[in-house]
Amino acid sequence: MQLHVVDHPLAVSSLTVLRDERTPRSRFRPVLHDLATMLVYEATRTLPITPVTVTTPLATTTGARLAAEPVVAPVLRAGLGMLPAALGLLPEAHTAFIGLARDESTHRPTVYLEAVPADLASRPVLLLDPMLATGGSVLHCLRLLLGRGARGIIVVSIVAAPEGLSALEAELPAEAAAELTVVTAAVDERLNDIAYIVPGLGDAGDRLYGEM
Ligand code: PRP
Ligand code: URA
Repeated sequence: MQLHVVDHPLAVSSLTVLRDERTPRSRFRPVLHDLATMLVYEATRTLPITPVTVTTPLATTTGARLAAEPVVAPVLRAGLGMLPAALGLLPEAHTAFIGLARDESTHRPTVYLEAVPADLASRPVLLLDPMLATGGSVLHCLRLLLGRGARGIIVVSIVAAPEGLSALEAELPAEAAAELTVVTAAVDERLNDIAYIVPGLGDAGDRLYGEM
């Protein structure tokens, strides 16, 4: 697994606003959008490109375009907060929706939506979930996406816990784990006894959209 922690000053400042318990929902959403833009920009750094010829007002030269239309997969609810940023940078992307709710006693995800293209082979796939805590939600999604032929999946998270990152390495087949990339703004200290990330930023879905 490749782990890329984006520690750009603008990313760190945005994350600090998100962590602050006083940040209201009205500010939390746009700041998360900005941080997601920075993370997706970094996450797409290695996407394959195809050379194209372009004619400027002065000359003909060689440029590039993405070799394949990417697929972005937000994990509902909280991943929806990252989706407009991803589509802003990748306007031709296809969107796969995965709806999961973590059972707060077992910490296991239960599935309520899987709207995912049948064939993901040869397409870059970005999985969007702000919080990688136990890793159970991301693992569920990775198994689903791998089962549809995705390779070299890129997980984009705002905050990751060491326990969740270790779970990805331990639970995925070796080849899938080796091809996986995680891009995050921070690897935090630990999970607490209710499997929340510490220091974290609290419940990302609630902070974006309100309590359920
Ligand atoms: C949160 C978060 C992740 C998941 C992380 O979602 O958005 O999807 O928990 O936890 P894990 O790594 O231990 O699986 P939640 O289930 O609370 O749903 P929500 O996004 O609708 O609030
Ligand atoms: N889900 C969240 O939204 N936050 C955490 O810290 C853990 C799981």
